[in-house]
Amino acid sequence: MENAASTGELAAIILQSAVAGLLFEHFACKSRRAPVHFVGNALREHNGTNTRRRLRNMVKTPIYMDNHATTPVDPRVLEAMLPYFTDVFGNAASRNHVFGHQAEAAVEEMRGAIGAAIGADPKNVIFTSGATESDNMAIKGVAEFYRERGNHIITQVTEHKAVLDTCKELERRGYEVTYLPVDRHGLIDLDDLRKAIKPETILISVMMANNEIGTIQPVKEIGVIAKKRGVLFHSDATQAIGKLPVHVDELGIDLLSMSAHKIYGPKGVGALYVRGKNPRVRLAPLFHGGGHERGMRSGTLNVTGIVGFGRALQIAVDEMENESARVKRLRDKLEAALKDRLDEVFVNGHPTLRLAGNLNMSFAYVEGESLLMGLREIALSSGSACTSATLEPSYVLKAIGVSDDLAHTSLRFGLGRFNTEEEVDYTADRVVEEVNRLREMSPLYEMAKSGVDLKTMAWKRD
Ligand SMILES: Cc1ncc(COP(=O)(O)O)c(C=O)c1O
Repeated sequence: MENAASTGELAAIILQSAVAGLLFEHFACKSRRAPVHFVGNALREHNGTNTRRRLRNMVKTPIYMDNHATTPVDPRVLEAMLPYFTDVFGNAASRNHVFGHQAEAAVEEMRGAIGAAIGADPKNVIFTSGATESDNMAIKGVAEFYRERGNHIITQVTEHKAVLDTCKELERRGYEVTYLPVDRHGLIDLDDLRKAIKPETILISVMMANNEIGTIQPVKEIGVIAKKRGVLFHSDATQAIGKLPVHVDELGIDLLSMSAHKIYGPKGVGALYVRGKNPRVRLAPLFHGGGHERGMRSGTLNVTGIVGFGRALQIAVDEMENESARVKRLRDKLEAALKDRLDEVFVNGHPTLRLAGNLNMSFAYVEGESLLMGLREIALSSGSACTSATLEPSYVLKAIGVSDDLAHTSLRFGLGRFNTEEEVDYTADRVVEEVNRLREMSPLYEMAKSGVDLKTMAWKRD
């Protein structure tokens, strides 16, 4: 029978459907011109034999190329998780029976795996619901615990909102925050950092790699500066773990935020590494309750999620070298094809110090949302955030000096483990086709091509 599926396969389909459903919700933002329902449509079409037959001879669409937003669960991760939904369902805090002991053993095994992956003592790995919680826990936890020592925190402008909004909240509570600027590639200046440190500084929070432009910060150098000046160093490594070598001692990191769903693990689980000695970092907890996780994070442990996270990180670390070389080759191929076949395109982010799967590009004279609409069958992100009635250009692109106009023309391609060469070729063809189509309709592009300097134009408004 052609469609016979094992229980495992069925479970995988159900889980993937749930994952895709969540993605659908995420993308269906309120803006009229918001990106499309490709994943939801794909699911609805999944069972149509016609669709399947039609796709057989070509690249399977929709193509998922938004791996900085989230990643699908790797089938090997799902396989590791499945028993913990059914047979091994105990509460890891239940000390009186075998169900609890088995769950606890699984959690401790994964704590060990995660500790090993980042060069940390496993007992300093605290499980959370994801990187947003880890960032909050690290920054608010340090701020509150060390309040007597000082009230100054240093971060930088292209951090994820989980860091920036946490810092803003602390400002409302009377803390002082310095937001370091970045250069046109998204890097902070280490001299700016040195100058910003003062006696009241208790924490530096600088991400390892950026989620929009992929720029990799000089984390090791920051660690040295922080240590020398006796300031704690937190790094949001959500986009970096499993993709870049991370060793908390070698990098001088005191607190490290992680999340499973960027590395082919499940959503809703992550961890915070909290240094145990040299120095021992103390945190005021965000939650109060059963005293789980050595009192730092109360709440019944998400055993299934933790198993998925641990397995996902093991796989990512084991395969890091090959995978990042493969993903980089695909990314470079896409970048080269777009640069060769289109004029007036610009890469945002660092030319070399950039995540292997990241390509953030501006396509001058094209409106990014229209481009996304034209590319419905490819899941990408735009350089605008549809968080309000108006489309705001990305604050990250603004911070590296990209003009609002150009930021609106930007797309983020996030390549990952399951992307293929055929998908890259297809994507390059389709982007070239769409950009050319939109430019053909653009009077500005026509004027620019006929030699008019648009910057010197005086626009008349009635
Ligand atoms: C750099 C960075 N930090 C934090 C987060 C938030 O992670 P989570 O979804 O696990 O809360 C993300 C997710 O987009 C991210 O990319």
